[in-house]
Amino acid sequence: MGAPNSIVILTGAGISAESGIDTFRDTNGIWSKVDYRDVATPEGFARNPGKVHAFYNERRRGLLRVRPNAAHEALGRLEAAFGGSFLLVTQNIDDLHESAGSRRLLHMHGEVNSALCEACGKRSRWSGDMSINSQCPHCGTVGRMRVDVVWFGEMPYHMDRIEAAIAACDLFVSIGTSGNVYPAAGFVEQARLAGAHTVELNLEPSEGYSSFNEAIYGRATEIVPEFVRQLLAAEVDAAFERISPLP
Ligand code: APR
Repeated sequence: MGAPNSIVILTGAGISAESGIDTFRDTNGIWSKVDYRDVATPEGFARNPGKVHAFYNERRRGLLRVRPNAAHEALGRLEAAFGGSFLLVTQNIDDLHESAGSRRLLHMHGEVNSALCEACGKRSRWSGDMSINSQCPHCGTVGRMRVDVVWFGEMPYHMDRIEAAIAACDLFVSIGTSGNVYPAAGFVEQARLAGAHTVELNLEPSEGYSSFNEAIYGRATEIVPEFVRQLLAAEVDAAFERISPLP
């Protein structure tokens, strides 16, 4: 494939695995240790808010102990060097893409370092623990704070911007996601309808592997930097073709 003009990248938990953040559905994954219905649904939060706060407090604290890996850094380099339009959509609630320099980034499942007040609807950055006694920095209400993460049954964030970018892209790359959760798992079909070349980079074939034009399997810290290197090399070759004198 020649050099793309517009890239959309989707990432999942697999890109953060080698930074030491557990994935959800691998062996010993997060959902093998805690029932998602208790900590990642509105019903679970209504039933036992303290348990939900404790679950996300532990994940927020965990972020203080981890660093972006070579895959996150490669995507930061790609965004900085790529001349076309670029959007990174992540399902992850960690801050490793930002730490690796990504800026054109949308967290479709929210962020563990963001808080939402159910009383006033405003968001705040949140780095410490949260509890049923936490107070909203905007409206001052106590006891109505929740982590600003999209739970099962809730609408993911930024869908209009994501779907517009996919409709306009000519390269769609999925990295480190099992393709189990919609709407993210359906993005590859939308990209194919838009005529994009679709590539899956993952440790193993995902649920949606057959929808991709191309697949590269391996650990993200190995396959993502190599993929980015080749993509940027193709971009340089295309630029030289544009400026080199005609034979
Ligand atoms: N390198 C590349 N891929 C990896 C690595 C690695 N080192 N380790 C694991 N993977 C792959 C696994 O093979 C798996 O396909 O990452 C994928 C992780 O899949 P999940 O654990 O299902 O995580 P994800 O796809 O991000 O889940 C999507 O589900 O629970 C919800 O909201 C949550 O955002 C999450 C969504």
